[in-house]
Order: sequence, then structure tokens, then C-alpha cells
Amino acid sequence: MPLQPSPSAGLSTTDFRITVLLSGKHGRGSNLAALHEATVSGLIPGGKIVQVIGTSNDSPAIQRARDSGLWVDIVDPRSVGFDDELIQHIDRTKPDVICLAGYMRKVPALVVARYQHRILNIHPGLLPSFAGRGMYGHHVHQAVLDYGAKISGCTVHLIDEEYDTGPIILQRAVPVIEGDTADSLGARVLIAEHEAYPEALRLISEGRVRIEGRIVHIKQ
Ligand code: GRF
Repeated sequence: MPLQPSPSAGLSTTDFRITVLLSGKHGRGSNLAALHEATVSGLIPGGKIVQVIGTSNDSPAIQRARDSGLWVDIVDPRSVGFDDELIQHIDRTKPDVICLAGYMRKVPALVVARYQHRILNIHPGLLPSFAGRGMYGHHVHQAVLDYGAKISGCTVHLIDEEYDTGPIILQRAVPVIEGDTADSLGARVLIAEHEAYPEALRLISEGRVRIEGRIVHIKQ
């Protein structure tokens, strides 16, 4: 099936509506900023961040979203009706895609099913390696170094019900350099993330991404 702007959005086909989902108190929001910049510069045709959903009012990422004039909704993942509340917030803005950008929780199954093939994540490693519960941020980079891998990178993938197992849209390789620390490797991977995530959205917004089983085909 093609992955492209949803007809249910009821908007001009040139609109490509993006919701960004974040969690926790500590998110930096650098991927959010990269996506926002890519929409403003026109790199993602028709791209517009219509909503940022976070789980904590205090995080630097949420502050960044507010400073950029983006619409922010805060939801509490500990509340009983969390899944429904999340769906209500997302439904209100009718996004074409939902981008996890520092969302460290499992996306509720109800939400995954409702927006099938429209929820994306960026992982700071080359999937399927160095993945799964607890594998985020510097944990990934330290694990890469401890294993002695010579190449790391980042992966943009679709979300399914598990951690880091959804179909891969694109990957960028980043060499491990002698003497790297988790911080130095992470800093270079982050630069790759800031290019890869907008690039994946550009391909989707141009209608060039089609998914068949777990294989994502990109039209050249
Ligand atoms: C990045 O490491 C990304 O790969 C992961 O969450 C982190 C978000 O960083 N999914 P930032 O808040 O976008 O700087």
C-alpha cells in the first residue's frame, strides 16, 4: 500500500500534516527542531507540524515547541484513559503522519492499529542491532562501542506493537572512530538523524514510499 497523505485529512493534496510525539522531562527536541526547520524551508513539500504532543510540561523539547509557536498538547501516560485521550488529541488535527521524536514509551496498541503505517520513529542505531526496551540515547552508543562495532548510524522506521521492530524506511551509516566515546559517537549520529528524518518525510510526502509486508519500497 502507498504511504501518502491521508485522504481523510480532507485538505489540499499539497498539505502534509505532521504530529510530533515526545515523552518525558528530558527531551532536547533536536529532531523536532530539524523537522520544523525542514517544513519551514520547504524541504518537505507541503509539510507542516500541526501539533506536538508531550507527556511533561517541563521538558526542554516542549519549551522549544512553544518557543517555535507550535501547538502543544500535554497528555498524562499514567492516566486511566491515556490511550483514548491520545487518540482524541491526534484525531483533532488529522495528521498524515505521527513522528516519534524522543518518545521513549511503547505506543499503545490501540493507537498503532488506528494509525497503521503512519507512525514513524527515529532510532539512533542501525536496526535490528542495538535495539529493544532500554536501548535509547547513550545506551545505544555505549553498546555499539562495547561490542566493537565499526559502523553505527540511525534508522527511520514505522512503528508496530514492539520496540524498534517495524519496517525500515531508511538508514544512514556513521563510522565509529578510534577513541570515540558514547557522547562523540552520539553527536555524529545525531547529525545524521537530523538529515534522515526530514528525508524520510520528504519521500512520503512525495508519494514515493510503498509498503509490502515488512519491506518498504522507495520509488526513485
Ligand atoms: C534521539 O536519540 C532519537 O534517535 C531518539 O530519541 C532521541 C531524541 O533526541 N528516538 P532529541 O530530543 O530529538 O534531541
